[in-house]
Amino acid sequence: MLTIIDALLSPEEVSQFNHALASGPWQEGKISAGSQAAQVKNNEQFDDAHPVACELRNALLYKLAAHPLFMSSALPNHIYPPKFNRYSQGAHYGLHVDSAIMPMPYESRSAHGGTRSMRTDVSATVFLSDPNTYEGGELSIETPFGLQHIKLDAGSVILYPASSLHQVNPVTKGCRVASFFWVESLVRSSEHRATLFDLDQSIQALTLTFGNSNSEVKRLSGVYHNLLRGWASG
Ligand code: NI
Repeated sequence: MLTIIDALLSPEEVSQFNHALASGPWQEGKISAGSQAAQVKNNEQFDDAHPVACELRNALLYKLAAHPLFMSSALPNHIYPPKFNRYSQGAHYGLHVDSAIMPMPYESRSAHGGTRSMRTDVSATVFLSDPNTYEGGELSIETPFGLQHIKLDAGSVILYPASSLHQVNPVTKGCRVASFFWVESLVRSSEHRATLFDLDQSIQALTLTFGNSNSEVKRLSGVYHNLLRGWASG
């Protein structure tokens, strides 16, 4: 299931992000890739340790946690602190699958000092550049319905199964800035997440029509929670 979240960030917030990122330290993107992915990656990545990165990822996490579509679609258990990348002219990221297990960055580890890792169930990209300012740079994702080419408005987000083969096509003009992160979901199976998402969307729509005191709405809500109880892992 691919989920698009339109306008997670307002145009004002997008400009604040881009302004802050333009001034900061960018590094070679290969340093964050696994050995296989490093061979196909030639973008740049914002220094995660810089205070600007810290401020922006916290702002993003706050917006995500408050967004019903994100919560319903991803059912997050853990969110990897968002990173920021930049593809200038000629940069691309060839076909790959994201690593299944990610060690959490230092500041996100448990208070006990353990080296926590998380499973990646959902991958996410937050587009930050106006699509009219660059050419190429589509996120191409292999799905059961064929290759999907994703290029969203600045401030919008795509969520896709982390098990998907995907690539960022070469940027042929301009510059593409984005944020990316992963979610370990409460529900490991993408099929189960998709079913819960559809059911939740229907319940929301029925609630608008019949109100939340309607007995069938209550019964369906019960079905949702009982499915979630059965499918939640860990
Ligand atoms: Ni990737």
